Amino acid sequence: MKVLMTETWDTIADWYAERVRTGSAMHEFARDVLLGGLPAALHGQRILDLGCGEGLITRALAMRGGSVVGIDPSPRMIRHAQTAEQAHPSGALYALDDGTSLTTVAAGSVEWVTAGLSLNNVPDLAATISAVRRVLVPGGRLVFTIPHPCFEAPHARWSGGADEPPGRLVGNYFAEGFWRSANPDGARRAGNQHRMLSTYVTSLVEHGFVIGRLAEPVPDARVIAEQPLRAGLPPFLLVSGLRS
Ligand SMILES: C[S@@+](CC[C@H](N)C(=O)[O-])C[C@H]1O[C@@H](n2cnc3c(N)ncnc32)[C@H](O)[C@@H]1O
Repeated sequence: MKVLMTETWDTIADWYAERVRTGSAMHEFARDVLLGGLPAALHGQRILDLGCGEGLITRALAMRGGSVVGIDPSPRMIRHAQTAEQAHPSGALYALDDGTSLTTVAAGSVEWVTAGLSLNNVPDLAATISAVRRVLVPGGRLVFTIPHPCFEAPHARWSGGADEPPGRLVGNYFAEGFWRSANPDGARRAGNQHRMLSTYVTSLVEHGFVIGRLAEPVPDARVIAEQPLRAGLPPFLLVSGLRS
């Protein structure tokens, strides 16, 4: 008998780590988009990587010279990140923590907070942005990517066919909150918090951040080769905010 289970980030951690390690064009593109929002050299910079998963971005930031701590609430993700660090040391450190509280991180202790595809997983955005503000020094920056909320709204799907150009069908963009994808091969089977673009921007502004950059990067050739339908739409949104 097949046992049905409700997936969480912890239960899909092995699958996610394997996908990242075997080289997914989308994950590499998402990583490169986020890294493009930071300086090439990060020596002397303290960085918190919020929702680090198996450490794809954390390691890259450490390799740029930053003092980086990755946090994630999934014990299994943290274990994967630590195992990868032992195999190929980059200097990155990891801790179990939740982005909504960041209880392991001292106030005013980092110049940068990065969040790669993780703010769309936190259940309370206001609490998370407030925690990020607390841990950043004045003048520090939050740089994050999220799946583009306009095209990755709950249950969005591809349309088009033999006689029609491809398109993206988005149902109720205004339906904010938790939803779970029925795709058994997608990360969002573990759930996802949909929020409108304006909700992210408003939350940043309300918590005293000045938006320095909002980008909708064109998918690169590797992504299009892997998923040709994605050619005309930005898969991710990049946002950079300065803590006042
Ligand atoms: C799509 S993965 C991204 C992982 C990594 N940043 C990357 O780019 O590969 C989303 C991550 O968000 C984490 N996450 C879920 N809820 C969270 C929370 N409340 N605070 C921080 N991270 C959370 C998950 O455990 C998961 O590791």
